[in-house]
Amino acid sequence: MTQDELKQAVARAAKDYVAANLPAGGILGVGTGSTANFFIDELAAIKDRIGGTIASSEATKKRLEGHGIRVLDLNDITGMSIYVDGADEIDAGFAMVKGGGGALTREKIVAAVAQTFVCICDGSKLVKTMGKFPLPVEVIPMARAYVARELEKLGGQPKLREGFTTDNGNVILDVHGLSITDPVGLETKLNQIVGVVTNGLFAARGADVLLLGTAEGVKTSTR
Ligand code: A5P
Repeated sequence: MTQDELKQAVARAAKDYVAANLPAGGILGVGTGSTANFFIDELAAIKDRIGGTIASSEATKKRLEGHGIRVLDLNDITGMSIYVDGADEIDAGFAMVKGGGGALTREKIVAAVAQTFVCICDGSKLVKTMGKFPLPVEVIPMARAYVARELEKLGGQPKLREGFTTDNGNVILDVHGLSITDPVGLETKLNQIVGVVTNGLFAARGADVLLLGTAEGVKTSTR
């Protein structure tokens, strides 16, 4: 199976998960990225039983609306049952590296509100130790050089994502060379650097459910 076929299979499984678990008229958070895009396309089939969605990026909002799926403002809701999103890496404890698509800040906000975070990815994303995928850090533009120096002190090699501005008007430093043995500890340290808006470690609030696309089928695990 190709990686796209695995993503497609996991997207279908996520649609089935939502159909079975989202209360009628419930609010669904929707992630960003290529796997999330497959999921959005699947979601069109069950749009009538969804009360509304919260999009984690402008790109996701556009795709949802293209299918006639209702997108709400997060400030107009008081709770969200399920959030479905991909990851760049996930470990056995369901901590994740996210933000390869640059949407990490809105994704982290949606994840904070959701009752259940369902991570959807192909088998290549499940790793023993995270860090091979460069860790995205969203930074206020004027703090870029300062934050880069602080990230170097933590043992990383930050590289500016050239020509990229986030939906929030900020820049991204992709941090190479990390071996993330303490995801919660590193997430906390990164949050303390002034000028960092969000870091791409989703460890303090990791996934609750993992739908993993493998050649043997989609494997479901719960934390
Ligand atoms: C978007 O900012 C990311 O967090 C994505 O969820 C992540 O990069 C996974 O993307 P793919 O599904 O395209 O691999």
